[in-house]
Amino acid sequence: MNPSLLLQKARDYEQEQSAQISPASRPLFHLTPQVGWMNDPNGFCFYQGQYHLFFQYHPYSTQWGPMHWGHAVSDDLVHWQPCPCALAPDTPADADGCFSGSAVQMSDGRLLLIYTGVTDMQNPVDYHQDQCIAIGDGINFEKFSGNPVIKASLLPDAFSRHDFRDPKIWREPDGTYRVVAGNRHQTQCGTIVLFRSDNAVDWQYVGEIDSSLGEYGQMWECPDFFTLNGRQVLLVSPQEMTARDDFHPGYGTVVVTGSFDEAACRFTRESIHPIDFGFSFYASQTTLAPDGRRIMVAWMENWETCRLAPRPHPWFSQMTLPRELSIENDRLLQRPVREIETLWQDDCRGEIRLQGDITLPEIHGRIIDMTVDVDFHSSDCQLFSMDVAKDSARYVRISYEADRGELVFDRSHCGTVRDIVHIRRIPVSLRDNRLTLRLVMDRESIELFVGDGEIAFTAVIPSSPEAEGISFFADQPVHLTARLHHLG
Ligand code: FRU
Repeated sequence: MNPSLLLQKARDYEQEQSAQISPASRPLFHLTPQVGWMNDPNGFCFYQGQYHLFFQYHPYSTQWGPMHWGHAVSDDLVHWQPCPCALAPDTPADADGCFSGSAVQMSDGRLLLIYTGVTDMQNPVDYHQDQCIAIGDGINFEKFSGNPVIKASLLPDAFSRHDFRDPKIWREPDGTYRVVAGNRHQTQCGTIVLFRSDNAVDWQYVGEIDSSLGEYGQMWECPDFFTLNGRQVLLVSPQEMTARDDFHPGYGTVVVTGSFDEAACRFTRESIHPIDFGFSFYASQTTLAPDGRRIMVAWMENWETCRLAPRPHPWFSQMTLPRELSIENDRLLQRPVREIETLWQDDCRGEIRLQGDITLPEIHGRIIDMTVDVDFHSSDCQLFSMDVAKDSARYVRISYEADRGELVFDRSHCGTVRDIVHIRRIPVSLRDNRLTLRLVMDRESIELFVGDGEIAFTAVIPSSPEAEGISFFADQPVHLTARLHHLG
């Protein structure tokens, strides 16, 4: 199969441009696009011995534009090699964009991509989102001539034809296929709908799995649906949320746990939480590793703030570090993939009875994996804080306010020149009177995991890489241990 002119143009362009970009401008182990704009992870899978990660891609500028699928592969989820652009909007069924989707291996060994084909985007009446497929060898994909395969017209009347997107596909043990996709119900509720197929070409609508019910956003994007530790898990990225409980307004992420009766298409909720409490996390997608781990990756940005993010490079945005998921007590736990340990370069430790402001020898850096444990036993400490990415003028502060039982993440002083949300407070329960914080930093990002990973917090920090100091503060004595690995 020969690439279309549009796809070949993108492939030539990314190759020519990326050769001129210094690797030092990029994060060390977070995936960035070869050139231009990236958003959602797509088609995350393990195929023929490697992880494949596709993504929403507009190579020609650092702003969103006609959507292509970019592509990269990895042996270990921490080193990524670019692959040629996988899809371009080059057929009548996707002329206005190849929006988000997913991948699955077929019984004959080929890889099937399913994505949202967008047409008539400028026309409010005919504007359509339908689901299309493309089949290939992991690098080159041929779009099915009968696309789209899941037309919005299969949906009951109360569902939107315009907001119908982001199919997540899987195969059942009997070889049949399922897809969940996001929709905006006419009641202005985000809704997830389920389809089934024997051959990935002919699809039937099965029913509705869950809905925001007016409480968690008006449109649900980028669903994922899988079993984990005996629970059924639904991940979604809502638009237009109003604040409630732990959820902040705007674009957010939601994990729902429960049980699913497929025969009745009934999903029963048991718990609902934000996936990540940070500023820079959206459109998460998971895959199964060959050893059975459920691994999640997300776009390390947010639609609200990305418009104002500085663009110092010819590429824009990064993926999160892939995370291992588990469920305990109906809570989603997230931990950095264990493969990050292959990047550990050294093992620096500090231990101190902390009171006032201190720095510890060897505890500094901007490309690090650091775990800090604060023991509050028999302590009157009301305020503990830690400054990272610090120099004489700049810092990011992570504090624990004991009286409120809250963790406060504050990036106002990181060097930003934008008046966007910089501070977020998160309720945190100490376990056995201890606070454990694991921070993974990769030049301009911080991923923070609290306790066993029951809270994850992701933030991009537009801050100069020279600001690499770390300091600690406690208003009353506490016992502090810090363990830090530089990553390389
Ligand atoms: C989510 C999203 C998806 C859509 C894609 C378009 O970030 O809005 O719903 O498929 O981005 O790039």
